[in-house]
Formats: sequence, C-alpha cells, structure tokens
Amino acid sequence: MITVEKGNKELYFLHFVGYTTVFTDRCANDAASGGRILLAYIDGFPAGYLLTVCERGGEGIRHIFTKPEFRGQGVMQALVRYAAETTETFLAVGMSEAHAFAPVMEHVFGKLGFRRRVGRNIYRCDSEDIWERWDEFMAKTGNRLCDTLRRQGYNAITLTDAPESLIQQFRRAPVSEYRCEQNHRHLILPGAEITPEISVMCELKGRLAAYVFAYMPDSISAIYKTLSSSAALQGGGVIFLAIAGSLQRAREHGVKRLVFTMESVGKSANAFREKVLSVIVSKQSRSVSFIYEPDKKDNA
Ligand SMILES: CC(C)(COP(=O)(O)OP(=O)(O)OC[C@H]1O[C@@H](n2cnc3c(N)ncnc32)[C@H](O)[C@@H]1OP(=O)(O)O)[C@@H](O)C(=O)NCCC(=O)NCCS
Repeated sequence: MITVEKGNKELYFLHFVGYTTVFTDRCANDAASGGRILLAYIDGFPAGYLLTVCERGGEGIRHIFTKPEFRGQGVMQALVRYAAETTETFLAVGMSEAHAFAPVMEHVFGKLGFRRRVGRNIYRCDSEDIWERWDEFMAKTGNRLCDTLRRQGYNAITLTDAPESLIQQFRRAPVSEYRCEQNHRHLILPGAEITPEISVMCELKGRLAAYVFAYMPDSISAIYKTLSSSAALQGGGVIFLAIAGSLQRAREHGVKRLVFTMESVGKSANAFREKVLSVIVSKQSRSVSFIYEPDKKDNA
C-alpha cells in the first residue's frame, strides 16, 4: 500500500542516501524553506519524494523521484495527487520535452487533471569550447557593438550593484513595456531564485533600457530565465550589452554550462537567436509545463 505524508529535509537525506545529487539537494533545501517535502512509502518502505517551492503566487514542483525498484507502481501518481489535492494555491511543473521521463510525466499530469501550457524554447550551451567560441564572436563583432552602445551612453550594471531607482523602474513598469508574455517581477523579489551577481540591467541616463535575469542552480551552470529590452529600444541591440555583461560575470563565476529559455519566437527573439545564441548553442529543445488549478472546472 502506498502512503504519502509530509516530510522534512532530514528524512529526505536519510531515506534517499545514495540517490541524491547536488541538484536534488538544492531542490530539497529550497523546498524546506517555504515549499513542501512530500514522502511516499510502499508498505512502510521509503519509495519516493516530491519537492515543491512557492513561486509566482503558486506552488511549483521542483523534483519528483521514485527509487528504481519501486517504479511503475503508482508512487509518482500518489505523490502528485496528494500535492494537487492539498495545494493552497495552484500546482505547476515544467520540464524539457527532451527529458528522458517526459512521456511518463505527460501521461501522469494529463491523467491527474493538469492543464498543458504553451512551452518555451530551451537552448543549451555546454560544449567544452563555449568560451573560446564566445571570445571569437566578441572579437569579430561583439566588442564593437558593446563599444558603440557604451558611446551612446548605455551602461550595464549587475543586479547586485543596480541602484534602487533602477530596480523600482523595473518593478513599476507595465508588463507591456518589456513585451514579455509573463510578468517577471517575482524574479527579483527577496528570496527569489535569481543570482544577482550574474543578472544585469542596462541603463541610459538612469532609465532602465534592458535586463537579463539568470540564476545558478549549481556552481557551473547558469539558467537565463528572461532577457528583454524596453519596447522603444527593441531591435536596437541594447540587450546585447546586458547579455555580454552577464556572460562575462557568469564566466568569472566559473560557469561552463548555459541554458537560455525563451518564450517568444518574434522578430527580435529570432534575430537574437540567429546572431548571438547560435554562436554558443549546442542543443535546442522545447519545454512543456502543466498546471493544476483546484478551482478550475476542467481539472479532474
Ligand atoms: C519519472 C518518475 C518519477 C516516475 O515515477 P513512478 O513512480 O515510476 O511513476 P508511476 O508509477 O506513478 O507512473 C508511471 C506512469 O507512466 C506510465 N508510463 C511509463 N512509461 C511511459 C512512457 N514511455 N510513455 C507514457 N507513459 C508511460 C506508466 O504506465 C504509469 O501510468 P499508469 O499507471 O496510468 O499505467 C521516476 O521514473 C523517476 O524517479 N525518474 C528519475 C527522476 C526524474 O527524472 N524525475 C522527473 C524530473 S523532475
């Protein structure tokens, strides 16, 4: 018989020793501070866990795991069902369509009444010569573009050094100003996952022109959550100064693996992908996300 109950970080470490990774430990730490750690048992034996965090006004599943010897017996379904039935807000989960277990997740989330949402494009850059490629590109065209932008008065500042006035502009700007499909304000709230040392804002005479927000899930990876320039400046290349500044910082922090996630396939996004991303991308895929909203009738 499968039972699910609330757990904690200590039980996660105790029951899943030998199965944990740096990534899952980080998820467990995040879940312990504000999210949930759920544990599943089969006839009293620890069989799987589910980790969530609170984000964007809801609850996000960060990781699910079933021990290999207990797979295919409904452990994940029991965990997800419990999480969905007891969430106080909504429950969301996202993953790459290329993930080895994506078909299983798709099946289970569909079965449990989650709604599928529009995916994002994911660009992985993890070749060994990533920084050599970037240097070559910068020497050929990138440095020139950055110099031109700096001469025009643009200035790139990390989120750590950004003055409060710039952060306030970002917080107060209407979503349409940066033509993003999502409101990104939650990303820089206290406790958010963004790494301020590698996230960069670009300003012109004290006015926010563009921003690039990224976070480091481990010591060698940087995930670029969003990059955007103000509506008036899109197409002018200002985002490049922010990107170049952010990549420089990421490199100084020992990053060797980059992941860009982009919702938009519009003209500027395509140009950015073709001119800049193509230099360092090694693999492209799409993400898929699912959401369970208890108060929506179409949920099972
Ligand atoms: C993904 C994972 C959590 C699934 O756990 P599990 O306990 O084996 O899952 P369940 O037994 O609850 O459900 C599996 C379901 O997927 C179905 N399934 C299995 N292979 C499938 C496939 N290739 N395509 C579609 N459905 C598939 C099963 O038939 C079952 O559904 P059913 O009960 O309706 O028949 C587990 O394989 C795991 O820990 N993987 C490693 C960690 C990981 O990748 N986690 C996800 C990333 S966050």
